[in-house]
Amino acid sequence: MIRTQVLGLGSYVPERVVKNEEIPFLDDKHVRGDVVRTETDDAWIYKRTGIRERRYVPNDGNTATSDLALEASKRALADAGVDAGEIDCIILGTLSPDFHFPGTAVLVQKKLGIAEKTNCACFDIRQQCSAFVYGLQMADAFVRTGMYKRILLIGAELHSHSLDFSTRGRDVMVLFGDGAGAMVLGPSESDDPRSGVMYTAAHADGTGALDLYLKIFEINKLPYIDYNPTDRETNQLMYPHMDGKRVFLHAVRGMVMASQAALAKTGLSWDDITWFVPHQANLRINEKVVEVAKIPPEKVLNTIEWYGNTTAATVPLTIDYWRQQGKVKRGDRILAAVFGSGFTWGASIFTL
Ligand code: COA
Repeated sequence: MIRTQVLGLGSYVPERVVKNEEIPFLDDKHVRGDVVRTETDDAWIYKRTGIRERRYVPNDGNTATSDLALEASKRALADAGVDAGEIDCIILGTLSPDFHFPGTAVLVQKKLGIAEKTNCACFDIRQQCSAFVYGLQMADAFVRTGMYKRILLIGAELHSHSLDFSTRGRDVMVLFGDGAGAMVLGPSESDDPRSGVMYTAAHADGTGALDLYLKIFEINKLPYIDYNPTDRETNQLMYPHMDGKRVFLHAVRGMVMASQAALAKTGLSWDDITWFVPHQANLRINEKVVEVAKIPPEKVLNTIEWYGNTTAATVPLTIDYWRQQGKVKRGDRILAAVFGSGFTWGASIFTL
């Protein structure tokens, strides 16, 4: 039977580390000044979120989401020992695409130098923090049916350019960072139902769509973009908005339900899982999930302390981070649970 295997994994974060202590002094170009522009501090941020620092791209106009995706992809391809020219499908999850259209996957295809060579299929998916599990479900279905044989699954985000660096936007601004993670997936013959990608489930509840959103434009209106992009002080449309408490509650509920269902449907227990990798939105959310779902705390991997929330990138980035630390190894069985804007959520069990 054809089953989907993880062939390789890679991640990339930009070099600039932005510590909580710097945040109050950053202007909207990320330049540190002498005066406090945002009323916040390390104690508040760490206590409520578990975040100490995050990464930002250089603000030189030369780095886009596709560049972060490209770096993570190159590392995943090298890890898999797969040549970029072998990729026959790219699935890219992001909420911070380079442009409104075309999608970012085609830009990565071009930057990988395989566009004209392969003309491979390119999908952009829009499931925000849940994109990795949604993308994995697509990849798994494609591989099992024989549709594609070398799939590059990417989660990449450039958040730092669309945040509101002021007290007004502090609830959202302090949470997010830039980064990317990628996986290469392909088929292998196996009769072991526990091998490779064992389980994926994806869910959504559109009644939560406006509990966490970034509009930029409203296509039902004319003009459909109604703001002055040089005036960041007054424009609301260009920033993300969030009902933090509702998101917190739904995130806990969604990830607990998805994790418990993953075990129930596969007949596994936490003894069979090497690592639990939750989406990295807020350490307090993940602590609650661990408590409610009775997950052994020593099996939980987090990276939010160093990277903040990188949305579609958090799961592969976290696995790769801990692999580089020597904790995660090939053959480990991972249960990943995600929750994001939409609302969307889901879980997956796979062997690395
Ligand atoms: N620094 C300092 N104070 C802040 C702040 C910041 N960065 N952000 C908000 N505050 C203030 C609020 O203005 C409020 O002040 P007030 O009491 O004077 O009105 C106070 O802190 C409490 O705000 P509240 O929104 O009730 O805080 P909270 O305990 O709900 O924590 C979040 C806020 C954003 C940390 C929390 O709601 C959260 O993490 N939600 C989920 C977010 C998330 O995961 N999003 C991504 C999902 S994929």
